[in-house]
Amino acid sequence: MADLAIFGGPKVRTTPFPARALIGVEEKAAVEALFDKAIETGNAFGYNGPAEQQYEKDFAAYCGGGFADAVNSGSNALFCALGALDLDPFSEVIVPPITDPGGVMPVVMIGCIPVFADADPRTYNTYADAVAARITERTRAIVVAHISGDAVDMDPIMALAAKHNLYVVEDCAQAHGTYYKGRLCGTIGHISSFSTMFGKHHCTGGQGGVVFTKDEKLHFEGRRFADRGKPFGLTGTNGNVRGAINCNLNDLSATIGSVQLTKLPGIVARRRAVGEGVKAAMANNPVVKVGWQVPDSSSCYWFLRMTVYPDAMKCEKAEFCKALAAEGIPVTVSYRHIQCEADWFINQHVFGKTGYPWQCSDYKGPKHPKYDMPNAIFAANTNFNIAINESYGEQETKDIIDALNKVSEYYAK
Ligand SMILES: Cc1ncc(COP(=O)(O)O)c(C=O)c1O
Repeated sequence: MADLAIFGGPKVRTTPFPARALIGVEEKAAVEALFDKAIETGNAFGYNGPAEQQYEKDFAAYCGGGFADAVNSGSNALFCALGALDLDPFSEVIVPPITDPGGVMPVVMIGCIPVFADADPRTYNTYADAVAARITERTRAIVVAHISGDAVDMDPIMALAAKHNLYVVEDCAQAHGTYYKGRLCGTIGHISSFSTMFGKHHCTGGQGGVVFTKDEKLHFEGRRFADRGKPFGLTGTNGNVRGAINCNLNDLSATIGSVQLTKLPGIVARRRAVGEGVKAAMANNPVVKVGWQVPDSSSCYWFLRMTVYPDAMKCEKAEFCKALAAEGIPVTVSYRHIQCEADWFINQHVFGKTGYPWQCSDYKGPKHPKYDMPNAIFAANTNFNIAINESYGEQETKDIIDALNKVSEYYAK
């Protein structure tokens, strides 16, 4: 048995893992052309112009048809997707167990109540039974997030939503190019949101997001909500038609986005090769495996979620991860982003000191809801993440596998 690097042995990976190289000369050339035109004509590039319209067309085409609205962050993409539903305040919206704050906070920003569904303990994602347990007569929508790029089991969620007449919003911030039963995630629910900040599979520069739907009515309501209630898709109106803020993207970011979209299939394919390679190699490892995924789904691997099996190990997950990191592997020990554990939710700090929306007398549900999340906690405790990207090739995949095997061999019972 090889000496672990953590105890002074040789490291599996002695050189840094490659950087993403997400932005290239193609984006630079496209942006330069935009600048050249602005300088030549004297007209500054703006927003909702030809470049943004093109990006929206490109994005809709990537989704196999439908309507895309480019906005300025993934959080605002979810905000506008929810805005498109035009929910009454104090409606309950079921939200994911483990997600970014931007995957929950938009719910309170439209005056609605986030209700946390627990996870399938094998994943960071929710599942239909957990959602069903949270439905009340006040529920109007369900937000699901495909965390790490692993698909939520959508069919039972859609069936549940149909039964209770609820909207389903897919948060695809981490899931550009994930497939579920042959369908692209983001095209299954009624409406979806994507983050295009620079850490995601494809980007629009530093920040950005997209709202996507196949439903024209939802699209136009979302666009109105994303741009101060301008009467998009309406005629005969008198000024702006609803109160909203300005969440627009812009032509500069969209120019980058269109180039990036051409790279997205390659990015997904290369990440998938790494993820699937590690998955196959770890299939019979009793200590650690790539996390369980919904059958007939295909992760886009925003990161590589690894599951440990405590009964098969002589150490805690944290020690295992420390040993793996010492081998040169980029490890995140915990992804416990359980938003109902966060101060803002516990202290109900949204609108000054009022405790709104929960404390408003118009809300008839629990004033200080507490959510038991045993499965989400279990998932957080038994999973860790390995950072991967599309620059990784066969050597990087092999190094990850070798390090996992080396460390698990040492700590196996
Ligand atoms: C699942 C999820 N939802 C929403 C967001 C928010 O996106 P943004 O950072 O672009 O606002 C993120 C960000 O990583 C996310 O991972």
